[in-house]
Amino acid sequence: MNKLIIGQKPIGIFDSGAGGLTIARAVKSLFPNQPIIYFGDSLHLPYGDKSEKVLSKLTSDVMTFFESQNVGLVLVACNSASSVLELVQDKMFFTFPIVDVISPVISLFKQSRKTNPKVLLVGTRKTIRSNIYQKKLPNDIQLHAVEAPLLAPLVEDGLAQTDISNAIVKHYVKPHSKNMYDYCILGCTHYPLLVRDFESALGKSCEVLDIPKLVAAYLKQRLDTAQNANKEYITDRYYCTDITEFLIKQSQVFFGQEIKLELVSL
Ligand code: DGL
Repeated sequence: MNKLIIGQKPIGIFDSGAGGLTIARAVKSLFPNQPIIYFGDSLHLPYGDKSEKVLSKLTSDVMTFFESQNVGLVLVACNSASSVLELVQDKMFFTFPIVDVISPVISLFKQSRKTNPKVLLVGTRKTIRSNIYQKKLPNDIQLHAVEAPLLAPLVEDGLAQTDISNAIVKHYVKPHSKNMYDYCILGCTHYPLLVRDFESALGKSCEVLDIPKLVAAYLKQRLDTAQNANKEYITDRYYCTDITEFLIKQSQVFFGQEIKLELVSL
């Protein structure tokens, strides 16, 4: 696999809201010296219920924003947006490489795993109905895909790891699923905050994949960044298309530390 050379240029990270900060946090911990530009389209959230046409338009608008920021690469942290990325790239040319959040999972399942594994995929309506995982995963995987439209809003609303999230995860996962799966793919940027809820619903035999870690490790394999310690460091930027006090608070939960959100229009 050829390395993507981005030198000192920032890594653009994009999600529908603050949820993608779970991925940004993992990227930042593996690339502490690489500047990042985060873009959360909080004005248009949720992406998981948008039509293909609207989602493709929003995604290409965000890419045009990244063109103006001179990024070295864009990581589409949103699963729903990743599901329309090929359509967007068929119509528009971008000067930077784009990595989606689904490829690292596909790559893992092509390399190391149990044989004929039973895999549970959970995601938004858009992601599940796009069939993108089904199309890309190896054929021997026994995949069961579940749409879970309530989960992202629940996490956005600060209700992860509560009795409510526990009950709703169980509702989607179904009681007979305990110890039935080998792996669980959390196909949405918000779900890392629900890992404990999924682990308790799915039982010990199921490995709930750490998607942010997986995505960051995949980038590490693919990227060639500049290692010059004396370089002039560009500050990380965190842009959102709508900012409320609650979003500021939630961004801290997703990223694990305080960050300054800046308003930008699309
Ligand atoms: N970020 C979206 C995703 O990963 C979930 C939230 C939304 O529906 O916008 O699919």
